[in-house]
Amino acid sequence: MDRLEIEGGAPLRGEVQVSGSKNATLPALFATLLAPGVHHLRCVPDLRDIRTTFAVLRTLGVQVEMGARSRVQADASKVENFEAPYDLVRTMRASILALGPLVARHGKARVSLPGGCAIGARPIDQHLKALRALGAQIDLEHGYVNARAKRLTGARIVFDQVTVGGTEQAMMAAVLARGETVLENAAREPEISELAKILTSMGAKIDGAGDSVITISGVDELRPMDHAMAADRIEAGSFMVAAAMTRGDLLIRDCPANHLDAVIEKLREAGAQIETSGKGVRVRGPDRLQPVQITTAPYPGFPTDMQAQLMAACAIANGASVIRETIFENRYMHVPELVRMGADITVEGHTAVIRGVSSLSGAPVMASDLRAGVALVIAGLAARGKTVVNRVYHLDRGYEGIEKKLRKAGARIRRVRSRG
Ligand code: UD1
Repeated sequence: MDRLEIEGGAPLRGEVQVSGSKNATLPALFATLLAPGVHHLRCVPDLRDIRTTFAVLRTLGVQVEMGARSRVQADASKVENFEAPYDLVRTMRASILALGPLVARHGKARVSLPGGCAIGARPIDQHLKALRALGAQIDLEHGYVNARAKRLTGARIVFDQVTVGGTEQAMMAAVLARGETVLENAAREPEISELAKILTSMGAKIDGAGDSVITISGVDELRPMDHAMAADRIEAGSFMVAAAMTRGDLLIRDCPANHLDAVIEKLREAGAQIETSGKGVRVRGPDRLQPVQITTAPYPGFPTDMQAQLMAACAIANGASVIRETIFENRYMHVPELVRMGADITVEGHTAVIRGVSSLSGAPVMASDLRAGVALVIAGLAARGKTVVNRVYHLDRGYEGIEKKLRKAGARIRRVRSRG
């Protein structure tokens, strides 16, 4: 298992380039199942989750290739298998997104139930509720979801809670349903708007994506997509925190600043100087960060995917910060690791109180999930001495060439490869 070794204390300087968005690319890849023909995607990040999605698509019969310059070609003309097996789904929960497109275009699907994950139980009841409302017959047996429908029929679906994946699932099913579908209490994340843009380019009729009510008029067939993925807002936000925490001066190229308002606001409150220009976003870190109060919430609120990184920053702020995690029940796995680096954090229920210390000290730590992992890397960049982040495979799920990008910006970081 690879690990990252970081010698802390070097400010991030110069420039860093943001890759295409992982969370927008995953549904886009599953949407290829909706139309026969050859689909083209550009600015696709080369990540473990993306390769897992390729594996799922190949199992189903889609011929998918990653070419040069982050281009992906997927031929979905011959989908001849309808099962996404446990071995793939368990490594990436988003595989459940195969369900909607398969049942919408092919009338049947069998996808393994994802089970829990490090950050909580993560049920899929809202996905199934939406598909049932559209007329799919759903059975759960032997750890699999079986879905069947001759043709889905439009319906009004009110989500019990805001869910990004559930909204994507319902959209991808409803685009080929007979009649109109109205999704209420839909997620408003930028990834939803991007999926709507992609589906619309394929011939779908969608109104209101980006708002909490989305209306979809089903069509009989769709054509292949040709789309360039937007930049990854969470990767960009992670670089922002790293620059702010290391007293850096970093230009983040292709930073989707308009999707990072809540993060930029908190970093400014903490004392970072942030300027937006045509080139990207420039972040300059203060001598000492100030404490902040953060509550995670669905978009446009503060993203849960940035909570761990901001907690790392709060750990060295000049005073006490409070963070409330409202999206996932078990998303404080990075806390004991940050404490090993000298942070003073107490957690009670969903609330973490972080009393800033003057500096963190490098230590061996373990990544428990994607965002917890990047928070530890960022903490290591700002800490005194050497930090070793183990279980880097979590980071490889969502950060393309992270050590190369950070090294180019002056970080002293290297990957140590090991087998097993
Ligand atoms: C997506 C993102 C993830 C991000 C999360 C919240 C991808 C691949 N992942 O995950 O990075 O952290 O949005 O912004 O895009 N829930 C249910 N029932 C359901 C579905 C969800 O109870 O059927 C709950 C979840 O357990 C969670 C909350 O709803 O508490 C939000 O989850 P959701 O928005 O669905 O997250 P994902 O789409 O899985």
